[in-house]
Amino acid sequence: MLSNPSSKYRAYPPIHLPARQWPSRTLTKPPIWCSVDLRDGNQALAVPMNVAQKLELFHALVKCGFKEIEIGFPAASNTEFAFNRTLIERGHIPDDVTVQVLVQAREDLIERTFESLVGAKKVIIHLYNSTSPAQRRVVFGKSKDEIRDIAVRGAQWIQDRIPRLAKGGTDVRLQYSPESFSATEVEFAKEISEAVMDVWQPTPQRPMILNLPDTVEVAMPNVYADQIEWMCTNLRNRDSIIVSLHTHNDRGTGIAATELGLLAGADRVEGTLFGNGERTGNLDIVAVAMNCYMHGIAPGLVFSDLNALREIYERCTGMTVPARHPYSGELVFTAFSGSHQDAIKKGLAEWEEKNSKSESCWDVPYLTIDPADVGREYREVIRVNSQSGKGGVAYLLESEFGIELPKDMQREFGPLANDAVDALGREVTAAELKGMFWREYIERTEPWELIHFHADGVDGTFSCRASARKAGADVALTGQGNGPIAAFVHALNAAGTPKFEVANYREQSLSSGTEASALAFIQIKLADGRTKWGAGVDTNVELAAIKAVLSAVNRAG
Ligand code: KIV
Ligand code: ZN
Repeated sequence: MLSNPSSKYRAYPPIHLPARQWPSRTLTKPPIWCSVDLRDGNQALAVPMNVAQKLELFHALVKCGFKEIEIGFPAASNTEFAFNRTLIERGHIPDDVTVQVLVQAREDLIERTFESLVGAKKVIIHLYNSTSPAQRRVVFGKSKDEIRDIAVRGAQWIQDRIPRLAKGGTDVRLQYSPESFSATEVEFAKEISEAVMDVWQPTPQRPMILNLPDTVEVAMPNVYADQIEWMCTNLRNRDSIIVSLHTHNDRGTGIAATELGLLAGADRVEGTLFGNGERTGNLDIVAVAMNCYMHGIAPGLVFSDLNALREIYERCTGMTVPARHPYSGELVFTAFSGSHQDAIKKGLAEWEEKNSKSESCWDVPYLTIDPADVGREYREVIRVNSQSGKGGVAYLLESEFGIELPKDMQREFGPLANDAVDALGREVTAAELKGMFWREYIERTEPWELIHFHADGVDGTFSCRASARKAGADVALTGQGNGPIAAFVHALNAAGTPKFEVANYREQSLSSGTEASALAFIQIKLADGRTKWGAGVDTNVELAAIKAVLSAVNRAG
């Protein structure tokens, strides 16, 4: 890299727009959406989709609720042409969906495009030519006037052919893109757009779409917003134009540019699922729709099962959605960090409580939306690795196995689990955590292992008789107390264990039905002040508690 980048690069000049309005506006309604997955997205793939893959993705897009779908560049290849014909002839296009096709301003390509559309019900014909100074100079070697003439001729070739389709009952709408708009002087973008309008003569009843692409992101998103507001303010017959945005993501701000462009007055948004597209991609339309949703605006697109959509997308395009991708990535609703887990756990508990009384809006720390709304499960939210604390461990044991560790026991087991996970050096599953818990508490048989226990009570005094194995030898135990546990503690103390008393006791059932198991947690306090937790499982509650006492004694060493 250069130590002085200004010798090679310069910032894109700002737009003079002192009365700009967009910074103080808010979004209150969704735009018209148009998916360009099957064209711009497809164009960007090393191996473009075949007809079957495009068809599967088309149906997925329809299911999401897209009413405008750019299905391809039919004059570009036989596959693209065949795809149009398949959609139209096999009746794949629902009546309320308009298919859009892209074409350059060349008469042979326009002719072929019209042939590909025969029999369609509703179409948008999308004409484009490139307008920026670099394109004019490097690619075309033409003046502004000559570039404008290319657009006007293309518009006229389209206009001349519309009656042919209309005669067959096709409803034709028109779209023009001054490609590389964001790198074009706004005055020239207006001039060329109005020249196309002169040919197409849009009206408020039959508006044309003017798509203003950020073909290559060259500036900060506020500059794009200024360009859009400038166009919306200065364009002739604004009410006969649907202003459309089409951003790419070269500087990583495609979503921001679109959102600011909407504030600046645009009506429509083109983009792709998960942002597939040339170079760094097109606008991620899922993210913008979900951004509307998380502000309480019904987006008009439905992403209730983002995992399933992601799977279709990955199968059809061969692309993968990164784990951190907004809303859609595998890890975006997951917290590994202990403090985050703790906050999420508390937030979810509050939400459950308040939501059941319809009392509040979603306000759970670290989660912008309820994962369940996009088909994600709460079980993915908290996952455990060495960064996680007791909260995450406790959450997984509870959510996956119904094991409700007492708070104080969480403080004891959390660090033990954390050390074990740290030593493993990877994420652990809930089942592995349960295994750790079982080995630490339930399966301990050293030095003491219970063989038999029986207690009887008379007038509130209990006597117990038990046998246990210690260091390979059977030991008979007897004791008295005000309950079976107290009697057993007495028996163990009498048998020479370090002196202790029960400081805490809790039990819960683990499953329902005849096979129900009881899980008991006991905390003992030793004469030297130390405390230890123990746990025991049995179908009999009393025996579960007795085993928990021995577990704690065994752990006290
Ligand atoms: O990015 C772009 O400018 C395009 C146009 C064809 C609209 O894809
Ligand atoms: Zn594009």
